[in-house]
Amino acid sequence: MQQDSSSDPINVEAAVAGPGATTHFGYTTVGESEKAGKVAEVFRSVAGRYDLMNDLMSGGLHRVWKAFAVARAGVRPGMKVLDVAGGTGDLSTAFARRVGPDGEVWLTDINDSMLRVGRDRLLDRGLPLPAAVCDAECLPFADGYFDRVMVAFGLRNMTHKARALTEMRRVLKPGGKLLVLEFSRVARPLAPLYDLYSFTVLPWLGARVARDERSYRYLAESIRLHPDQNTLASMMEAAGLSHVRFFNLTAGVVALHEGVNLGPCPPAAGNAAGAD
Ligand SMILES: C[S@@+](CC[C@H](N)C(=O)[O-])C[C@H]1O[C@@H](n2cnc3c(N)ncnc32)[C@H](O)[C@@H]1O
Repeated sequence: MQQDSSSDPINVEAAVAGPGATTHFGYTTVGESEKAGKVAEVFRSVAGRYDLMNDLMSGGLHRVWKAFAVARAGVRPGMKVLDVAGGTGDLSTAFARRVGPDGEVWLTDINDSMLRVGRDRLLDRGLPLPAAVCDAECLPFADGYFDRVMVAFGLRNMTHKARALTEMRRVLKPGGKLLVLEFSRVARPLAPLYDLYSFTVLPWLGARVARDERSYRYLAESIRLHPDQNTLASMMEAAGLSHVRFFNLTAGVVALHEGVNLGPCPPAAGNAAGAD
């Protein structure tokens, strides 16, 4: 399933160097300290229409991608699972049904608007899971606490992706698995059609359905700037994950990356999740 990419790997962390450092917000170069605020505006604006837009934009395919990711996660009764950048809670819902009453699933997101929609949906489904506002780059959980950590369509929006990957590995138990579901590099023959769709249909839908064209233009741009399949696999290895592999879904429109934490057993993680 591995795919060669001839595109230049974008060194997304290159600009991480002190005050005045810059990064990308879509195709716009912004100060590193500005990016999180701009991303927050995007998700605050789209939170109410987020689920409808996902179905419209992907023709329902996001459900298939997420179902594949959940199947690969291999979550079993009693496991502890962290849904990072969990937004409106699709994955948390699936995991909660698998871990059963002895397990634990945390829905987390940096954005309170998205998290509120997610928490309410979970409650409507009879799933009162813990939900916490937190930044993936600085997770408020003890080392080695979770059996599975999953981030779906969230990594692309983070300012320091390497830092976030390292944090996600830190909170995994030895033998635990990190799964990253994200837009990726589409197979080259499909690229022109995909570009046309992304830069015309997506902003058009965003304007009509979510009354926010700019956020959906950001979506298209941020996908182009996200590390391709091989680059992300290397970043996961650099973060200390082993057996890293990826699966291209829908010709690489999306890829699921997974890696295992084989790190040494951290000093007594204790029983509490360690939220400060
Ligand atoms: C496209 S949504 C994905 C939501 C959900 N995982 C899904 O697949 O439907 C991206 C989410 O990433 C969150 N996010 C962005 N930066 C983050 C960060 N540094 N830490 C945690 N969440 C973040 C956003 O607030 C947003 O809810």
